[in-house]
Amino acid sequence: MGRFCLRHARELLTLARPLSGDPSADPWDEAPLGLIRDGAVLVDGDRIVAVGSTDALDPWLVKDPSIAVIEVGDRVLAPGLVDAHTHSLFAGSRAGEYALRVRGESYAAIAARGGGIAASVRSLRAADDAALSAQLAQHLATMRAHGTTTVEVKTGYALSIDDELRSLGIIAGAGAIPTWLPLHAVPPELRGLADGRARYLACVEGPMFDAVLRQGLARAIDAYIDGPGFSVAEVLPTLTRAKAEGFAIRLHVGQFEDVGGAELAASLGAQSVDHLEHVSAHGLDRLAAAGVTAVLLPGAAFSLGQSMPNARQMRARGVSVALATDFNPGTSHTQSLPLMAAFGVRQMGLSTVEAWHAITRVAADALGLADRGRIVPGARADLAVFAYPTYEALPYDFGTPRAVWAWSGGALTHGALG
Ligand code: NIG
Ligand code: FE
Repeated sequence: MGRFCLRHARELLTLARPLSGDPSADPWDEAPLGLIRDGAVLVDGDRIVAVGSTDALDPWLVKDPSIAVIEVGDRVLAPGLVDAHTHSLFAGSRAGEYALRVRGESYAAIAARGGGIAASVRSLRAADDAALSAQLAQHLATMRAHGTTTVEVKTGYALSIDDELRSLGIIAGAGAIPTWLPLHAVPPELRGLADGRARYLACVEGPMFDAVLRQGLARAIDAYIDGPGFSVAEVLPTLTRAKAEGFAIRLHVGQFEDVGGAELAASLGAQSVDHLEHVSAHGLDRLAAAGVTAVLLPGAAFSLGQSMPNARQMRARGVSVALATDFNPGTSHTQSLPLMAAFGVRQMGLSTVEAWHAITRVAADALGLADRGRIVPGARADLAVFAYPTYEALPYDFGTPRAVWAWSGGALTHGALG
């Protein structure tokens, strides 16, 4: 690691300032990108120490000739991207289910037959730690090739005390940001029982929660609040306990139906509320007033054949918007956050400036990681260099991994230096 300087970046995006919350502000105004032409960044250890034009930073190199120099050239230097919602820990493929959905079968019908989340629960439970860790590491490496250096990963394909703890251990061991998602579905072994649902809810709120606290790896919780998931009344006891324990709350809300999850998220002071394909204007106003970030997941909407959530409307009502992949084996088998930005701009009404914020700074804030997703002195040295001639290529050059290099906490984690 040591000290190194990235210089002569054609465009350096610092995202040093937040987007304006004023709905009348021009979304295409470039100022919130904090763009520096011919930019440079100086890194010491895992931190950014200086940011500016190459001319402004060159005196550091004269003072300390031991600083390694990397020429960025005609590319875009940006914060390492932040994927704030994924289910990257899974085993097996559900490509067959997708083929059925494309031919008209519904997600709910497949789940009712024992496919869907239950299929992934069976596969994960059968996989050993080494295989799961190796697959997760491979996914994270693929994400870095797309420029993503911070990845939130949920549990939720385990749904038993032992396997949820095992999942949290593997996620934390991979260097990802763990979120405990116990209320994803009723586990298959309890589904057929008359009191199975009630027993699972009691287990999560009680013994499973106790075990997660003892293990000490999870500081955030998620629940799937939706028609096919759980009701507000069902999740409330566990989420109330989570709030009392100081957990951050991130919620799946309104993927298929609006069952009041947005209002619950606002009243609990959730960190984020994710999906929102179905949400009322009232729900959006409550989110805006409570400062809850909407994490939108265009990959899931795309794969389910739904219309994309209307990000423009959310921004107009004062809601902060992040974009994430929702990478999972059922509804969003993509590892490309830049592709989500492309959907965000073309299909969801975001400007390119808002899309950059949605996959960096806003996403980091949604995870409570205020030292990531921006290039400012003191921030973690998470950086990505993209083979784009200009920042405007983000939604235009879609689908191809374009990160040339990525650094995570000052360590090169993608690409090779010449
Ligand atoms: O975010 N909606 C719930 N969870 C996932 C899908 C889970 C699955 O089908 O495996 C999602 O879309
Ligand atoms: Fe999800």
